[in-house]
Amino acid sequence: MKKTVRDIDVSGKRVLVRCDFNVPMQDGEITDDIRIRSALPTIQYLVEHDAKVILMSHMGRPKGEPKPEFSLLPVADRLTELLGQDVLFVPSDQVVDEHVADAAAALPEGQVMLLENTRYRAEETKNEEPFTKQLAELGEIFVNDAFGTAHRAHCSTAGLAQYMPAVSGFLIEKEVKFLGDALDDPKRPFVAIMGGAKVGDKIPVIENLMKKVDTIIIGGGMSYTFFKAMGLEIGTSILDEESIDLAKSLMDKAREQGVEMLLPVDAVCAKEFSNDSPKEVFARENIPSDMMGMDIGPETIELFTKAIEQAETIVWNGPCGVFEMPSFAEGTKAIAAALAESKGTTVIGGGDSAAAVEQFGFADKMTHISTGGGASLEFLEGKELPGIACLEDK
Ligand code: 3PG
Repeated sequence: MKKTVRDIDVSGKRVLVRCDFNVPMQDGEITDDIRIRSALPTIQYLVEHDAKVILMSHMGRPKGEPKPEFSLLPVADRLTELLGQDVLFVPSDQVVDEHVADAAAALPEGQVMLLENTRYRAEETKNEEPFTKQLAELGEIFVNDAFGTAHRAHCSTAGLAQYMPAVSGFLIEKEVKFLGDALDDPKRPFVAIMGGAKVGDKIPVIENLMKKVDTIIIGGGMSYTFFKAMGLEIGTSILDEESIDLAKSLMDKAREQGVEMLLPVDAVCAKEFSNDSPKEVFARENIPSDMMGMDIGPETIELFTKAIEQAETIVWNGPCGVFEMPSFAEGTKAIAAALAESKGTTVIGGGDSAAAVEQFGFADKMTHISTGGGASLEFLEGKELPGIACLEDK
């Protein structure tokens, strides 16, 4: 168990807080502020306990250069609205300079300031000095609350822990609790649903989950690689050619380990990868040579829904079809609806499945939706995340 802000005296101290404010933007506007809202409990706690709060985050991948489209200014504005108090934004192409250092030194208790995008500095993603040292000079305590970036060992996520007391914020505490409890102490039956296009990306997660679950459901684009491994024809469906053997060995492993593996039994197919392409349902044995699977079919929905209904713990990562296209969103929507109705614990890995749950209006029905995409995947793989490993133990 890691120490949190509750375990340390923050009053009157300059507290450097790493958040993940890497939010989606369109034409300079934030299109989804869930990551900002998820950081509020920690920030509010620090404000209420008279800390001087210095927030840090990256946005996008500006590759070590100041690029205005990746500025955190819109985040400062949104934070000001959400917190109901001014958040001082101190822009600098260097992220830390004399002006920023003066502002941090003069910050009154209970006030909040935000630094510019930490990835404006090339050292950030290499976890290199002098950037870590310059950041460290701004504060006295390091709080990491950036779960979404906890799988990166960067200056602002892990490097700072070498310079000062380092504890977690409430978001990391919550993410570790829900994802960790699901993996380590699940109520059974425990069902994992894995989707998404490439099997290769998900192999380590599937392998780790198979050691823990009773049932693993494979949906989405990756299921066609499994079909191929079963010797079925998949038409023009997406195929992760390099992973056919891996898919075969995962099916063998599931059998050996007594884990039930559920694959789709039918697919909604189309000729073009387009929302307007006419669609038709085929059994998985009959996918025509000139069509591709775009979504799970009605029999598969029934099969998966039954397994979900019986589950006491469900972890979901990756959509079951091309849900961005309304014509092929039914399968993913039905799975989201089944989770929403579940009486069990429902944990949504971040990224696409979190977006799907939001899009279909089921977000408030889930036990936990992770704010991490890559980070939640690595957590589910059983990896130690450097941004968490660096924090002090209780
Ligand atoms: C994410 O969105 O997954 C995190 O903010 C990490 O971003 P990165 O993949 O660019 O490191």
